Amino acid sequence: MCGIVGYIGVSQAAPILLDGLSKLEYRGYDSAGLAVYDGDKIQLQKATGRLKVLSELTHDGATMPGVAGIGHTRWATHGAPSNSNAHPHFNREETIAVVHNGIIENYLKLKKYLEGKGYQFTSDTDTEVVAHLLDYYYKGDPIEAITRMMHRVEGSYALGILFQAHPGLLYAVRKDSPLIVGRSKDGNLIASDVPAVLKYTRNVYFIENEEISILSGEDICFYNVDGEEIQKESTAIDWDMNAAEKGGYEHFMLKEMYEQPQTVRDTLNPRIKEYNVDIEELGMTDEEIRSIQKIHIVACGSAYHAGFTAKYVFEGMARIPVDVDLASEFRYRNPILQEHDLVIIISQSGETADSLAALREAKNRGVQTLGIVNVVGSSIAREADRVMYTWAGPEIAVATTKAYSAQLIAEYLLAIKFAQVRGELTKEETTSYLKDLHKLPEQIEMLLSNKEKIQHFANRYISAKDVFFVGRGIDYAISMEGSLKLKEISYIHSEAYAAGELKHGTISLIEEGTLVAAVLTQEALYKKTISNIVELTSRGAFVLAVTNTGNTEIEKAADYVIYIPQTNRWFTNSLAIIPLQLFSYYVSLGKGCDVDKPRNLAKSVTVE
Ligand code: M6R
Repeated sequence: MCGIVGYIGVSQAAPILLDGLSKLEYRGYDSAGLAVYDGDKIQLQKATGRLKVLSELTHDGATMPGVAGIGHTRWATHGAPSNSNAHPHFNREETIAVVHNGIIENYLKLKKYLEGKGYQFTSDTDTEVVAHLLDYYYKGDPIEAITRMMHRVEGSYALGILFQAHPGLLYAVRKDSPLIVGRSKDGNLIASDVPAVLKYTRNVYFIENEEISILSGEDICFYNVDGEEIQKESTAIDWDMNAAEKGGYEHFMLKEMYEQPQTVRDTLNPRIKEYNVDIEELGMTDEEIRSIQKIHIVACGSAYHAGFTAKYVFEGMARIPVDVDLASEFRYRNPILQEHDLVIIISQSGETADSLAALREAKNRGVQTLGIVNVVGSSIAREADRVMYTWAGPEIAVATTKAYSAQLIAEYLLAIKFAQVRGELTKEETTSYLKDLHKLPEQIEMLLSNKEKIQHFANRYISAKDVFFVGRGIDYAISMEGSLKLKEISYIHSEAYAAGELKHGTISLIEEGTLVAAVLTQEALYKKTISNIVELTSRGAFVLAVTNTGNTEIEKAADYVIYIPQTNRWFTNSLAIIPLQLFSYYVSLGKGCDVDKPRNLAKSVTVE
């Protein structure tokens, strides 16, 4: 995720900014930049790659004089990693400099508007519209320009802003993207995350949504979106550096699980316009969508499981036949690909060797390819004919959670669009599906708030030897992901089975007390899975059921029940996976495993 640092005070700003940015390196980034007011004008320096490059370029900041500045580490979203896309961004006179975290959802509309007013854009970023909008609204009063800008932009933002005409001041604003202000004896700071300021202060203010802060070397003031001054209490931070990097969470995996509601919003919201799915970014005509004969989804690990869910969704909703393949199998099995087939490669990193090779194989055979990718500018994103980004931000824990959730959202959006264009969905159905999608973030928040109950349950199973996950249809796909989460971070052997398949062999493994997690989110299949649960409990299994609120029938068959809120049958994976992620996390924690870096595993598998 991008990082922001700002400083104003009596010391030279650039070294402080570089030091603060170095404390945010763990968040992932691909370029960095600084803007410092040197007493005459705002100086800018940017570099692609590691922060070290920027440090060398500026002699550790020495070549940038001045006591007020902003710095940024960028993790590419809109536009590939490059110097021109790196922050800070300027207005046309280079008198306003902006750093930004978040996503401006209506940036294309604003860009068109500003271009109509004669503004020229030098980057592909969404951020640049903020610099030009501020310029457009600035008539001598920065607060007025900032509040007018806030009324125009949609999406999420944390912003650090310098106005050359107000050299003794630093401006900070946020909405749905974190930003803090720190008070120190030698000056004041802003940062997107606590670790960046800990060396200078432990006294911080958390800026709330749609609040503005103005910092001078001595003072800090806060305003609301109407430009009225407000009072805020500071908080004393007592976390150590390690805890601070994780935002106070014990592990990155837990932090990333808690980021899922925002990830879902970020992947979803920019692509829904007036109750329609807008995926113009793919450049796919309705004719092309109508001509698709078959979809092949190819991926590895959790991305494969997300693809497995998509099979049910695409086939059920859009009536397009779907094959799902493990990339390591697809690339060597001489797959049958026809002219009007579409190959979808799903990958968080965009660098997984097998997925990349599968993509190349499909392209060599002249088939259209589409990547669902999280890392902007990664190999799969660059090489696929079309790319749909998941806006999950960098994921640090080896076990994926938020990127998987974002992949599901991208798939739902594609399925709805395809179904609509192919005449498989009415306007009313589309509207109702989109309403359900909009509810997911809050429903996920609700499930996450239930963590104590799951922790309590998980603690009973830290010495389990084998765990089974079962379900039918989409519930089988959820089971596969639930099972992988458990085994990869807790080292407990676990398997996922289609519930109807148990009696063809696997049920012989059930002993007194064996834990089976059964997923039942598909109403049409409740009765069938309940019969399977009864077969299991009568052989001694202890059954944990994850099911929809209202399916109380389950209580007669299962030993322990976790209810998920009601949603459309195609979207249940987004909810049912949350308790399963939490379960794995707490089993791993209880066993004392290395949750974020499980043994033998790497985050990005760039070898075959
Ligand atoms: O970066 P990718 O999505 O291509 O990675 C694919 C798998 O390696 C990945 O999902 C892996 O299975 C995760 N560790 C699962 O948590």
